[in-house]
Amino acid sequence: MGKYALWVCFVLLSGHSLVYAQGDAAAGEEKSESCAGCHGEDGNSNAPIFPKLAGQHASYLAKQLHEFKKGKRANPTMTAMAEPLSDADIDDISAYYARQKVTLEKAEKPNPLGEKIYRTGNASSAVPACTGCHGPDGAGNPSAKFPALRGQYAAYLEKTLSDFKSGERANDANSIMRAIAAKLSSEEIAAVSGFTAGLQ
Ligand code: HEC
Ligand code: HEC
Repeated sequence: MGKYALWVCFVLLSGHSLVYAQGDAAAGEEKSESCAGCHGEDGNSNAPIFPKLAGQHASYLAKQLHEFKKGKRANPTMTAMAEPLSDADIDDISAYYARQKVTLEKAEKPNPLGEKIYRTGNASSAVPACTGCHGPDGAGNPSAKFPALRGQYAAYLEKTLSDFKSGERANDANSIMRAIAAKLSSEEIAAVSGFTAGLQ
């Protein structure tokens, strides 16, 4: 009985994530033409102020695009870009970028503060280890919608963490990232961003 229930759960859960990620990547490639100027043709953006989308989980990308569209993640440029997209467009574009390969950044010079925060957190200010959700190599977790972070530009990581800290970015479920970023100093945000960008 226990075993059977577990099996049913597994089938239901895996079925669910398949449905979620079922965009058409080939259609998504065409639909992403208007994004290429900032995010690059394959989602490896040309400038560090534009986040890389290549290799990011489709579930996370789709969540962000729906939330830009609704204005729940506040960014006038991206809200304007997401507004005309239908649900199917969002699934297709997300499937396309998820299949591209992110270009990794160079591993950073030793950065003990950034590494400590990423791997173990900061016990004195109750910051949890980033690795617990984003993974030891920054690969994230698609079913939990924990984004991949490796290869992302440090400048974007630092901006978005500062936005979580100030509350300007407030689309994280249950305030997970706002609560964590609020406990990080600006120095810690800069250090952990540099370390995370260089994860291989
Ligand atoms: C004019 C430049 C520009 C264009 C064109 C553009 N974006 Fe963006 N995009 C941005 C910027 C800037 C951000 C970062 C917003 C922030 O700081 O919160 C962003 C963020 C994103 C994110 C969130 C990434 C993350 O890691 O959370 C996604 C997803 C995204 N864009 C998808 C798209 C798609 C799909 C298109 C085309 C339909 C597009 N963008 C077109 C500038 C652009
Ligand atoms: C309990 C799980 C959890 C922990 C621990 C955690 N994160 Fe996150 N993180 C998330 C979730 C969930 C999101 C996605 C929020 C959303 O949907 O917009 C996220 C998003 C992010 C983003 C935005 C990525 C992007 O592409 O815009 C950054 C950067 C980030 N986290 C960095 C960190 C750092 C640095 C730490 C450690 C100090 C950390 N996270 C710890 C769950 C976590």
